[in-house]
Amino acid sequence: MTTTIALAGKGGTGKTTLAALLMRYLTTHHRGSSILAIDADPSSNLHLALGLPNPRSVGEIREEMLALSSSGTVGVGIARRDYLNSEVRMAVEEGDTVDLLAMGRPEGQGCYCSVNHLLRQIVDDLGHGYDYVVMDNEAGMEHLSRRTTENVDWLLMVTDTSQRGIQAAKTMAELARTLAIRVRNVGLVLNRAPAILPEATVAAIAQTGLPLWAQIPDDPLVTEFDGLGRPLAGLPADAPVVRAVERLAAGVLKI
Ligand SMILES: Nc1ncnc2c1ncn2[C@@H]1O[C@H](COP(=O)(O)OP(=O)(O)OP(=O)(O)O)[C@@H](O)[C@H]1O
Ligand SMILES: [Mg+2]
Repeated sequence: MTTTIALAGKGGTGKTTLAALLMRYLTTHHRGSSILAIDADPSSNLHLALGLPNPRSVGEIREEMLALSSSGTVGVGIARRDYLNSEVRMAVEEGDTVDLLAMGRPEGQGCYCSVNHLLRQIVDDLGHGYDYVVMDNEAGMEHLSRRTTENVDWLLMVTDTSQRGIQAAKTMAELARTLAIRVRNVGLVLNRAPAILPEATVAAIAQTGLPLWAQIPDDPLVTEFDGLGRPLAGLPADAPVVRAVERLAAGVLKI
């Protein structure tokens, strides 16, 4: 059984940071498990937080395949599926502890429906081969609404303490419920949270109707690591963010 965790929320709230920290948690506490990180942000940067090279993206594979089809090099039906399947599998960047797949740019306008449908199935099948899939999204719901993955066990709506961030999390959580994807659990993760929350923040959180799954402190070590371009996997075990993500993962997500 695969456990799928997706992170969404307003821009710059800490989705990529928390995705990398969840991966750090999984690789230290579930050594031996297979983990697939999906970078569903077209301006791919999850690889930096993971310390991996930037992989060739699914978007690039789609563009290349469309170019090949129009030149008649790749056929239709089975041939297409086999081609895409092997290209996607080859594009997976295999790290020591985590594999990484980048989605790249979403499809443009036009009749690429059958190709996108195939790619969705291929990415889903690929995910089913792993114990854990962690999907970092761009700001907004683009990839979730394009159903980059079919089932999400835990949808983490990441926000800072701002009213706009919390409101965006609420709106996106509502949108997620209307989509064809199956989201089993949705909750808020309050990032860069002070020890004592301002009353207005508490009130805004209550208004979302979402459970508050975690409060992650602002951690100067994250700033330092990001400044140096060091992967967050290298953060010490006693770093406040590492501890807070541990509480989220073990206490709420039960992983
Ligand atoms: N808990 C934290 N403590 C300190 N700095 C943090 C923390 N969380 C995130 N940051 C910093 O905030 C910035 C934005 O974080 P991040 O890139 O993870 O956000 P994002 O939601 O993925 O952004 P985008 O929407 O652009 O993808 C980064 O510079 C990161 O170092
Ligand atoms: Mg990001």
